[in-house]
Amino acid sequence: MPKAVVHDFSGYRQFSAELHALALAPRVDAGWNKQVDASLDGVAGKELQRLVDLTARRAAGAFFTGSTLAERLVGSLSFGKNAFIYDPTVGAADLLLAAARRLPLGKSLRETLRRWGQCLAGTDLQPEFIEAARLRLALLARQSHGGDQKLPDDLSSFFPHIRCANGLEQKQLLGRATHLLMNPPYGLVPAPADCAWAGGRVSEAAIFIVRLLEQASAGTRLLAILPDVLRSGSFQHRWRERVGDLAKILKVERYGIFDDIADVDVFLLDVCRRSGKKSDSHRWPVAVESADTKTIADFFDVHVGRVVPHRDKETGPLRRYIHPRSIPVWTDVRRIEDKRHHPLAYQPPFVVLRRTSRPGHPYRAAATVILGKAPVAVENHLIVCEPRDKSADTCRALMAQLKTERVNEFLDERIRCRHLTVGAVKEIPVEF
Ligand SMILES: C[S@@+](CC[C@H](N)C(=O)[O-])C[C@H]1O[C@@H](n2cnc3c(N)ncnc32)[C@H](O)[C@@H]1O
Repeated sequence: MPKAVVHDFSGYRQFSAELHALALAPRVDAGWNKQVDASLDGVAGKELQRLVDLTARRAAGAFFTGSTLAERLVGSLSFGKNAFIYDPTVGAADLLLAAARRLPLGKSLRETLRRWGQCLAGTDLQPEFIEAARLRLALLARQSHGGDQKLPDDLSSFFPHIRCANGLEQKQLLGRATHLLMNPPYGLVPAPADCAWAGGRVSEAAIFIVRLLEQASAGTRLLAILPDVLRSGSFQHRWRERVGDLAKILKVERYGIFDDIADVDVFLLDVCRRSGKKSDSHRWPVAVESADTKTIADFFDVHVGRVVPHRDKETGPLRRYIHPRSIPVWTDVRRIEDKRHHPLAYQPPFVVLRRTSRPGHPYRAAATVILGKAPVAVENHLIVCEPRDKSADTCRALMAQLKTERVNEFLDERIRCRHLTVGAVKEIPVEF
């Protein structure tokens, strides 16, 4: 089981103080409504970005879901009177807000708070988020009642199931939940010792989904926003198999980039916990999904550069010559000063990647587009990707994709050593 770590999010209390002021505001008017609308949507995430540094946010996997994506996840769900809706990694409750918008109101604000509090549950390791989660749900309730009725000072008694705790260890809440809504942390952690479906490092999101499904009751619906590599990665097939053993797969939907703060491709998963033994019905849609996953090998020929500087003799024509230190990354290079004799060279346009690529490095596949008319000799610390359509635009499109978190994550999972291999580069998923 990964160790739960609490990070310093004390800066976020400033946002909670603003929510508190809105919650207790004596008078409500158009300005109040506008502020509440904003604080129930993107402002929670924007304030997190402003008040807490990126290192802490990354380490905790704290990136909040905007209302568009939350609405898309919850979709056309409706909740019956016995519904118990739980977000194990609740953050500031963006997913629970989408659920609460579908819950009936009571006759008074207090009754609504009481009813919502009985059927909404959320846990998070950060106390600052729990405070914000309760306040935002209370603000939604107050706004839904027209705003005139005042909120009680102490909201904790109204949301007893929204509390600071480790979401991986909530047997009771999981046993009770009819619906699990989730956007778990995505960071890579060592696979737990008892994990039969993964070894090495694994996305925390993958661990969360399996652990929660293992503890959930039959019939529990789990809807989650997850890193796309779990859907498309060839190394994640055992995770997909395990999820298919535990639950019926109702929907797997690609979404695209999470948002402009967390540049990671995500997909939406909707499953229902099976009642008993494994079954062949509603398995993961592997064939459909993998058939349309294209990789670099579908568009490029991939080789290691041919020049081994200290071994190769200066023979053959005098060529333009590149090595990792002679070219900048993430740009086009047309002008090449270095020259050497070599029999083998590549005709531009093509993309080169540095072979040295440490796990956890900001960019695992640092790229440059090589242009110009004359062929270029390439040192063997670079990997060459030659576009089959001979187009510089295809090269630039590849370079842009290599810079994404999706590719970093793919390579972090695919290859743990310090050097990229031709095989791993060929398997990088791409879209053109
Ligand atoms: C990606 S954010 C999503 C928050 C919220 N569900 C949303 O969609 O906006 C993940 C959250 O998980 C929390 N978290 C990380 N590990 C956790 C754990 N073991 N138990 C509970 N919460 C955890 C982080 O503090 C963070 O708030």
